[in-house]
Order: sequence, then structure tokens, then C-alpha cells
Amino acid sequence: MTASSARSYPYQQPDLPVAQRIADLLGRMTLEEKIDQLHQSSIGDTNPNNLAQRTEEFRATDGSFIMGGPPTVLATRNAFQKRAMEASRLGIPAVFGSDVIHGYRAITPLPLAQACSWNPALVQRGCAMAAEEAKAHGIDWTFAPMVDHCVDARWGRIAETFGESPYAASVYSAASVRGFQGENFGGPGSVAACLKHYVGYGASEGGRDYVYTEISSQTLWEMHLPPFEAGVRAGARTVMSAFNDLNGTPTSANPYTLTEILRKRWGLTGPVVSDWAAVAQLINQGFAADEAEATEKALKAGVDIDMADGLYRKCDVALVASGRLPLTLIDDAVRRVLRLKFELGIFEHPYTETSALSAAAPNPAQLALAEELAARSLVLLKNDGVLPFVASLSQVERVAPNALKGISDQPSALGAMRSTCRDKTVRRIALIGPLAVNSAALLGCWCQQGQAAETPSIADALKERLPSGIALRVEAGCSLAGAPTDDFSLAIAAAQEADLVILCVGEDGLMSGENASRSTLRLAGRQEELVQAIAATGRPVVLVIVSGRPLELHAFEGKMAAIIALWAGGSRAAAALADVLLGRRNPSGRLAVTWPRTVGQIPLYHNMRPRARLGDEGAYRDIATTPLYEFAHGLSYTTFSYSPIRLDQTEVSETGKITAEVTVTNTGAREGVETVFWFIRDPAASITRPLKDLKYFEQTSLAPGASRVFRFEIEPQRDLSFPDGDGRRILEPGEIILMTGDRRASFLVVR
Ligand code: BGC
Repeated sequence: MTASSARSYPYQQPDLPVAQRIADLLGRMTLEEKIDQLHQSSIGDTNPNNLAQRTEEFRATDGSFIMGGPPTVLATRNAFQKRAMEASRLGIPAVFGSDVIHGYRAITPLPLAQACSWNPALVQRGCAMAAEEAKAHGIDWTFAPMVDHCVDARWGRIAETFGESPYAASVYSAASVRGFQGENFGGPGSVAACLKHYVGYGASEGGRDYVYTEISSQTLWEMHLPPFEAGVRAGARTVMSAFNDLNGTPTSANPYTLTEILRKRWGLTGPVVSDWAAVAQLINQGFAADEAEATEKALKAGVDIDMADGLYRKCDVALVASGRLPLTLIDDAVRRVLRLKFELGIFEHPYTETSALSAAAPNPAQLALAEELAARSLVLLKNDGVLPFVASLSQVERVAPNALKGISDQPSALGAMRSTCRDKTVRRIALIGPLAVNSAALLGCWCQQGQAAETPSIADALKERLPSGIALRVEAGCSLAGAPTDDFSLAIAAAQEADLVILCVGEDGLMSGENASRSTLRLAGRQEELVQAIAATGRPVVLVIVSGRPLELHAFEGKMAAIIALWAGGSRAAAALADVLLGRRNPSGRLAVTWPRTVGQIPLYHNMRPRARLGDEGAYRDIATTPLYEFAHGLSYTTFSYSPIRLDQTEVSETGKITAEVTVTNTGAREGVETVFWFIRDPAASITRPLKDLKYFEQTSLAPGASRVFRFEIEPQRDLSFPDGDGRRILEPGEIILMTGDRRASFLVVR
């Protein structure tokens, strides 16, 4: 008789406390059964870098699975689960994980793009939507959010990060965890989150993937650890150890990061899973002589589940028998896995039933959310006034009463609005570039079950939305990869006859993401040549960049009339873009990452340390030292002004509170969303501090002429202290400079 046919054991009784169920079950398990709980197999290919295992390697006692790409995820889950429940002695259900990174079938923008929305509530809703859909397909656990810190766009995985501010990444980390897991962990629409890749993977040398990382203990605590801590504190149930060798101790065998920090200081109770074959790779990294040593080191350091390489299963029994691995270590790891399963409720509900969400293509509500996220994530980097390009006179008359509120000379302002509109009237548009007609690229890397066939391309969206009377000609101009046969002549002809060119260039989905490092950020193939050829026509060009990372625009940025970073904006990116181009939406995205002029400027980020010599000294001799676009840069179709900062005191004690306020006014002609960023600088400290450190942000929509007071309530311990190289917080007396918009103020911290 198998366990599932009789619900008699305490571990099978849902009303008993979880700890009691775990103890009961653990007491019944053989060593082999325990070790199987620490083994993770993969069903199907999870991504082009990871090849599926053969099915004959699977056991009914396998603890967990990664669901790769099979379209029949739900049926596969149920079939595998049936084996676990019915063909194993104890009927322990398996847990099914998958990389649900930015949507399941309804695809939201890449995380780096979402970070540019500065709207964690929306990001949280996107994660909740993905969780609900994934769960309906039989996924219990997502390998997300990815909260790695990275300041090197050569690393393809920068696309999966939330950008270069540890504060922002922490906010998004917590929001994503809440979105994926929901309020009722294990309930409907809730999947377990997994913070990855712990830790420092984003510092990969030279932007190459899977390589060594050299991170000072100071930088580890300041930049890399905070988003993980925030995610654990938000209740993330699991963490993934990374591939990188961290200063000589690989992160999948690092007792300091895994046990000391993660478990002892932060109190993670759930399991740590290794990244794909990271335990076996300890041998490649020169940290273990053989599989047994790799297993021993990973388990002892704190990796509970071995993803995909099967080493725990292969080596654990002998390691326990020889005394190299204490049984208590295995038991502790198994307890954490079982706890996850009990809390997810899969002992009670091992199977996934078919539902409306598991069958159909994305529904309108999902697509609307994906579109909102795409619209909020795109960043208008440059605009000489060419955008929005269609503003009919009747539209101007409609918005005028509101737009002109508070403006003293209303008649002349209205006259100006009317004539701008007349000047810009566009009748013929040339839509050019390999990304104009490419739907798949909009989905980006890790796009799960997202379907290119269901995704409108930029050309599709413009055709659908352009008002009648505007002619659209579409010419790819060149291929993405670039071929000697690429012929620009049709694209050039289209540009010549157009009033406006929309030129779409960038990357396809797999040019960013894992194993997608690049030594240059210049446009791939012959795209740069195409851009130069189109610019040479003299027509106004709106450049649209589809990518997972900042790309190098240095050679032609000055020739563009407007530039939009659309990123890989997901299922509805093209619709969102069309609305922004047409002025139906006002863009509000702001860069979550510094956009360098050239690849040679890397690393370049807002929170750098001050230099020894000032002014021009130390600057590049061949190029400006400043970025092309700074962190937090992004334009709107309206303008905002900031009042001077008001502080309620000039001094604050270490345990006190000081409030800063700024009044922000929409000084333009249309409603717009403004994000107010509060940065601090600590100009003299016992450990040098960044030039600018983001501490808080807030966003609101303001009608033309409207003002709002933004407030930052500063708690010195929380907002002004900094860690030392072992994570101890330091708060020192002295001056603090506060910056928001173009305003600065300072105050003193006193003992
Ligand atoms: C990636 C992880 C991913 C895992 C499972 C690895 O290659 O680094 O981010 O979660 O595969 O697909």
C-alpha cells in the first residue's frame, strides 16, 4: 500500500502543526528518500543554455522539478505528480519550479525596463499576474526575482536586474516577492519566490558570464546584499545560490554568505537551491577536486537543493556513511524542503486542475496590465519637440482649458500650442528597421510561454492606431544579424518621401539575458550603418531602441530628433509605444541604469565614490567623462518645476527624525507623471560614501498647473547609516546633503 491511499500518518493530517508533520515524515524517511528531496531534475529545456535530462533519470521520489519549455506544462506536472503520489512509498508530492521572470504567457517588460517605471505597486501587480497564470499551469515556485546588482551593460543579464541602485532594487525585490507570493502564501495565485543569484553574480569580470567576481566586502554589503536582505525580510521563501566565484570562494559553497548572513543574520527558513549545475561547476572553478568534495562543500556551506547536476544523489550516501557529512545536515536541509511543500499546500492539493487561465491566450485584463507596464517602463531619452507627432487642432482645443490654468498670458500660450501643432502635422511616416516588424524581440529573454504570434509588432500597432490620412510605409532596411546583401535603398527611399521616420533598432530576445555577454554595446550587424544612412536623408528621425541593456548611441545620437528606449517591453510594448508616439500617453519612465556614451566608459554609475582630483583632472581625454544619459533621466511631454527644499529642522539627532519637503508643479500643458528622487551625500565619513545615493522615491500624476508637496521623512538610522565590511551599521555625526530635482539642502546629524 502506498501512503496516498490511506491518510493515517500524522504528516498527512492538515490540521496538525507543520513542525509536527515535518518531524513525523522525516522520521519515516530512509537516507535515500531524504537525499532525493534535495535533488532537482529538469523537465524540458529551461533555456538555450540548459539541456533537458533524459526522462529515465527521473524517480518517483524526486523532490523537485524545473519545468522547462513543454507547452503541456499542466499535463506534465500532473503526470509527474501522479508518480510521486502513487508510485513512491511515502507519497511526498514534488514541487515544480520555473523561470517566471516577467510574465508567463502575458509578457510584461524585462525587469530592467520595469525598474524604469519607478512604480513598485505596478511591478507587484505584474508579478501577481504572472504568478496566477503560472500557478494555473502547475508551477508552484518561480526562480525570480533576480535582484543582482550590475553596473556593466556588457553582461547580458543586466536585462534581468532592477538597475544600479541598491535601494531601488531592494524596493522592487520586496514588491516582487509580495506579488509572486501574495498575502496568503500557498493560496490561489501564490507561488514561492526565489531570490537569485546569491550573491555578486552581477559583478562578473568584464561583463563575461559565469566568471570570477572580485567584490570588496564593503561593496558586497553596500551594493550586492541589500536587495537580497529586503527580499528575505519581505518573506521570500527560497534563495538561489549563484555561479560566481566570490573572491576565491564560489557562492554555491560559501559558508559566510549562505549560512552566516542568509540563515543566521537574516533568518531565512526556506531552502537554498543551487543555480543550474553550480555544485558540479565547483570542480571547474578549482574549488573541489571531485564530485564528492563539491557535494560536501556545497551542502556544508548551506546549499540545500542541488539543481540539475545530480551530485547530491550520487555522493551523499557515501559521504554520510564515511562521516564526512553529518546526517543532521541532511535532515536540516530536508526539513526546509518539506516545510516549503507543506506551506505551499501541495500535500493537500498535489494536482493542478484545468481552469480558464490554464487554457486560453492572455485575457484583456492581463494584456491591459502588460500594456500599462510597458508604457510606464519606456523612457523618452531625447525629444527636440518632434514628439508627440500627431496632435490634432481639435485635441489642443480640448486640453487647452486645463492646460492653460494658472498661465497669465493665456491667449498667446494658446496661439503657441496651435501653431506647434500645425507645424508638426505629419502625413507620411516611414517605419524603418529590423525591429519594426519583429514581434519576438519585444518579448525579450526568459519570455516563458509568451507567443510571438500573439504579440503585435511595432508595425502592427502603428497600422492599427494611426489616424486615417497618415500613410505608413514599412521597410526593414537590414537584418538584425547583418548580411553583406542587406540593401538600404528601399529604406532610404521611404525616409526621403516621409515627413517623419521612426527607426527601430536594437536586439532580439536572446542577445540579452544569460550567456549573452557582449564586448561592445554598438548596434549589432549593419544597423549603425542603416541609422547613419537614414540620418543622412535629413528627415526627422525618432529612434526606437528595443533591447535588454543600454546600447551605444554615441556616433549618431546628435542626429536623432527623438530617442525612446522601449526595451523588450513585452506582449503589449508596441501598443504602448504607438500611444506615446501619438501623444495618447505621456511618457514617464526614468532610467534605472546609467546610459554610457561608449562601452569604454564602463563602469559608470550614479553612486560612484568621489575622485581624488577634481575638475578636468582624471577625465577621459578622448570623450566626455559624463554619461550620455544619467541615472533617473527621462523626459515627459510636460515639464515640472521644483521649489527649494524645506527642512523642518537644521539638525537631527541619531534617534530623531527630520522632514524634507519639496513642492513640484506641472508647468507644462498636459497631465504628466513625475517621480521625485531623493538622493543623499555624506561628504565626510569614516568610510567614503557615494557622490549620490538614492534613498527614497515617490511618484504622482499632476494635471497642468497643479502642484503637490512631496515629503521625505528621514530616519537617520534607516536612511543615513551605512554598513561596514561586515554589515555593521554605522551612523556618524556631520553634514548630510540632500538632493532632489535641481535642488539641494543640507542638515547636520548630531549626537
Ligand atoms: C540560470 C538561472 C535559472 C536556472 C534554471 C540557470 O542557468 O542562471 O537564472 O533560474 O538556469 O532555469
